[in-house]
Amino acid sequence: MTLRIKEHIPLAPMTTMRVGGSARFFARVKSLADLRSGVAFARSQNLPIFVLGGGSNILVPSKGFPGLVLKIECKGIFYEEEGSSSHVIAGAGEVWDEVVRDTVKRGLWGIENLSLIPGTIGGAVVQNLGAYGVEACDALAWVEAFDMQTMKIKKISRDECAFGYRESIFKKNSNLIVVRAAFSICHDGTPHIEYQDVKTFFAENKIEEPALVDIRKAIVAIRTAKMPSSRLGTAGSFFKNPVVSADEFARLERALPGIKAYKQEDNTVKLSAAWLLDKVGGFRGHRQGDAGVYEHQALILVNHGGATAENILSLAQEMKNIIKEKTNVTLEEEVVMMRV
Ligand code: EPU
Repeated sequence: MTLRIKEHIPLAPMTTMRVGGSARFFARVKSLADLRSGVAFARSQNLPIFVLGGGSNILVPSKGFPGLVLKIECKGIFYEEEGSSSHVIAGAGEVWDEVVRDTVKRGLWGIENLSLIPGTIGGAVVQNLGAYGVEACDALAWVEAFDMQTMKIKKISRDECAFGYRESIFKKNSNLIVVRAAFSICHDGTPHIEYQDVKTFFAENKIEEPALVDIRKAIVAIRTAKMPSSRLGTAGSFFKNPVVSADEFARLERALPGIKAYKQEDNTVKLSAAWLLDKVGGFRGHRQGDAGVYEHQALILVNHGGATAENILSLAQEMKNIIKEKTNVTLEEEVVMMRV
């Protein structure tokens, strides 16, 4: 089957923030052959390519995208056992949480703390998603990526992925398109329930030794309570939690008593952007027209209905400026703008 390339396709409905214009060209990629045809088409027309997953961490500008948007819909979930270790291998277009749910249903530990995070497998890898003390890279074994330079598939080990906090090689090298990823999972894992919200949940519900299904249930409950309803457009956390040196943190602690932060292994300190935006910025519930800050979580920006990407960015800039002015901390966006 040849790849169907459509023209002038609205992108807002394909993103969770629900803003933005159209793609000049657009195609749904379901196989390696589709990917090859899409890339070849863009090359022949000298068009830029944007790779779209679940659209949960992206802002589309009002003018849309002038090139070819490839929406990755490569499916398939397989399980593989190799001695004592097992892998779940999933196509980049699989919905992340469906893979998590399937592993938990089979009694396999490894990615349960990442329950209910929106997006696809591809997005999870590129972005190295993380929550409740676990990051995608903790369980990742390998990635298969299509290299647009060689037009071939390349198997990339976990080490080669150069993962960091919401960072990976795939963010730096736009020639690589994630096609499949394998995560290590096991039947006899240990719970990671040190994160405060998770500990509190189990204490309140009087669960002393949570089973795998309890952990998924807890995370789903915590996230559901914290995230905006589907009535509002959102892309989850809008900014990263800024990382500062120990010295800088000492200064901040003196200036901002009660500041929420987490010491890291390399002696740097990760600051809670939500705390700064809430307690220092007073931004919870703040609005600039239909672009707003979620009333229960200051790190989450929402579209109340009629906002544009530019409205959201203007609100984000106001927030960055005020935090910089009051604390000298620079906030950096986690959400990515779709651009050439
Ligand atoms: N807090 C406030 N005011 C607020 C919200 C939070 O003071 O309005 C304080 C709370 O005391 C809380 C702390 O800030 O203990 C941290 O908040 P939270 O636990 O909600 O986590 P976060 O740092 O805001 C990060 C990830 C989320 C992930 C959660 C849970 C980033 C940028 N975000 O958020 O990831 O779900 O931890 O682990 O690292 C995402 O990136 O889209 C995302 C959902």
